[in-house]
Amino acid sequence: MSTVVIVGTQWGDEGKGKIVDFLTEKAEVVARYQGGHNAGHTVVINNEKYILHLIPSGILHKGKKCVIGNGVVIAPDALISEINGLKKRGIDTDGNLLISKNAHVIMPYHTAIEKENENRKGNKKIGTTGRGIGPSYTDKVARHGIRMMDLLTPDVFKEKLSANLTTINFLLENFYKAAPLKADAIYDEYMKYAERLSKYIADTDVIINNKIDSGENVLFEGAQGTLLDIDHGTYPFVTSSNTIAGGACTGLGVGPTKISRVLGIAKAYTTRVGEGPFPTELKNAIGESIRQKGREFGATTGRPRRCGWLDMVILKYSIRVNGLTGIALTKMDILDGMDKLKICVGYKHNGRLYEEFPKETEVLENCEPVYEEVEGWKESTLGIKGFDKLPANAKKYIKKIEEMLKTEVQIISTGQKRDEIIVLKEQF
Ligand code: GDP
Ligand code: IMO
Ligand code: MG
Repeated sequence: MSTVVIVGTQWGDEGKGKIVDFLTEKAEVVARYQGGHNAGHTVVINNEKYILHLIPSGILHKGKKCVIGNGVVIAPDALISEINGLKKRGIDTDGNLLISKNAHVIMPYHTAIEKENENRKGNKKIGTTGRGIGPSYTDKVARHGIRMMDLLTPDVFKEKLSANLTTINFLLENFYKAAPLKADAIYDEYMKYAERLSKYIADTDVIINNKIDSGENVLFEGAQGTLLDIDHGTYPFVTSSNTIAGGACTGLGVGPTKISRVLGIAKAYTTRVGEGPFPTELKNAIGESIRQKGREFGATTGRPRRCGWLDMVILKYSIRVNGLTGIALTKMDILDGMDKLKICVGYKHNGRLYEEFPKETEVLENCEPVYEEVEGWKESTLGIKGFDKLPANAKKYIKKIEEMLKTEVQIISTGQKRDEIIVLKEQF
């Protein structure tokens, strides 16, 4: 039995979807442990592109159990349209998809409140995906959230909805000066969703643990990235869940003793969507050319992603808080053709050198990155499948990363497609 947690090491969009899809071949179960439809995981198979938001990226392999865990927040309408979209393309979720009873539901008031909050913050806004993620997790922690299992008992759902709306409509009308929401309309809408989704709702913790105990391989799919973690990220410019590897335990009901490996996905450079500090950001022609070549536009919102050099301070931090056992380095091909590459090895701020990740937003916002410059490579790495076939300087770049991080690069991704990959160490 092996279980592998797939976790983003930067600010999301590292290529988790591609790596999960690739590793699914040897797994029996793929389970998402946190986040919601703020995620956008892209998988390309034979020139066909799929973007998964809530459903684990393993769904594109026939017959694999795909679990949406208790740590995920679910917008039922988004989930239904994802199920329908896959069905139209010949991918059936019936019998394969399972949704935790305990997963919390994103309600229309979550999106409404988030919109008002972001508007009020003006230039201090977080730049969220606008999917109601934060307010839904807020309700969960405040202990008046609605869970997937509540959708199965209409009376319970009605009571909770009406209690929540009393407060929310008061806030919407009197504080935000916005239109109130109607309980009856929401009730009718959500009961239709319940009818459609009921067959998938299950005790997923029991199913996953049974699979692990019977020796099956299980993949845990993280969303977002380490620097977006609610506890360990660049707070408050983060998402509202525990994106780090530990989130797999709480978000699925799997004990830490059951985790075999943690594979951190790292882009060969760095990107970030939304607001917040980003020390190695390139607000120049190099950043723009990486954005264009890497097609760095959000898979969920279409927003341009901010681009910058690879950052060892961040990756060292990620190795620590996730307990990474290895790294999958993605999008190597996007760096092809560059004369020089820079690797950030520290931050300078007020005469002090930071080699460990500083927690203060002020330091992250105003520090000056310290770079080591390395030679680039002119040859194309696109689609290369063997380490020996890589250009000499590309190999040096990877070796340097391993030395600096004291962690193995176990997978190298050289293109969007499933088979554009170099595997140096098997995960299962
Ligand atoms: P995720 O959210 O971590 O799953 O990543 P996204 O799907 O949001 O963004 C990663 C993008 O890079 C997607 O369009 C992938 O198809 C693409 N991608 C992943 N690995 C590679 C790679 O090695 N090379 C190239 N060129 N594209 C890649
Ligand atoms: P995947 O799984 C990149 C960012 C948003 C915003 C912040 C908070 O595809 O890597 P939220 O809507 O979660 O409250 O927004 O987090 N964000 C992501 N950035 N990739 C993601 O997911 C993200 N999900 C949320 O842009 O800055
Ligand atoms: Mg993404």
